Amino acid sequence: MTYKLRILMFLFVFNFSLNISYADEMYIQKRIHNFKIAKKAIKNINNHIIKKEYIKINDEIVFLYNWFSVLPSYFPKGTEASIENNSDASSEIWEKFHVFESLASNSKIISLNMIDDLKQNYYKQIRVKFDQLNQSCSVCHNKFRN
Ligand code: HEC
Repeated sequence: MTYKLRILMFLFVFNFSLNISYADEMYIQKRIHNFKIAKKAIKNINNHIIKKEYIKINDEIVFLYNWFSVLPSYFPKGTEASIENNSDASSEIWEKFHVFESLASNSKIISLNMIDDLKQNYYKQIRVKFDQLNQSCSVCHNKFRN
């Protein structure tokens, strides 16, 4: 192999691995960002329920529903917590990815349930379902967050 070709190959491989870690980093930053918005949404929903301002819950809960629908896809292999990133994702996620997915799906179903209730102006169960939703965050965190 000529010297030039070797350098070219090195640059190609180097660039390729840089791109991969860059993509991983993007997933990590994006999911942390979305989780922060989710936390804020939960806080807002809680305040709306206390004030019985049920109409205002809709946008927040739709955000949560959408986030839970795509959440597992923001956890590609290789994006677990390490000293090189600021992720708290446990490596157990990838050992039991189907469990991780089903917990995200469970939160999604509760959100959808709340959206349906709001559509029908049925507010009696909102507090109970909101508590379930909160619980569903903790269940996943206890299992899959460091
Ligand atoms: C299916 C699992 C799962 C569910 C459900 C879930 N989370 Fe998380 N959450 C995680 C994981 C995993 C992380 C760590 C992500 C990382 O650091 O890469 C995390 C991180 C977070 C963080 C920390 C973000 C930061 O600043 O680093 C917040 C806040 C958060 N979640 C809020 C919530 C709220 C609120 C809910 C429920 C409405 C929720 N999460 C539901 C798995 C979940």
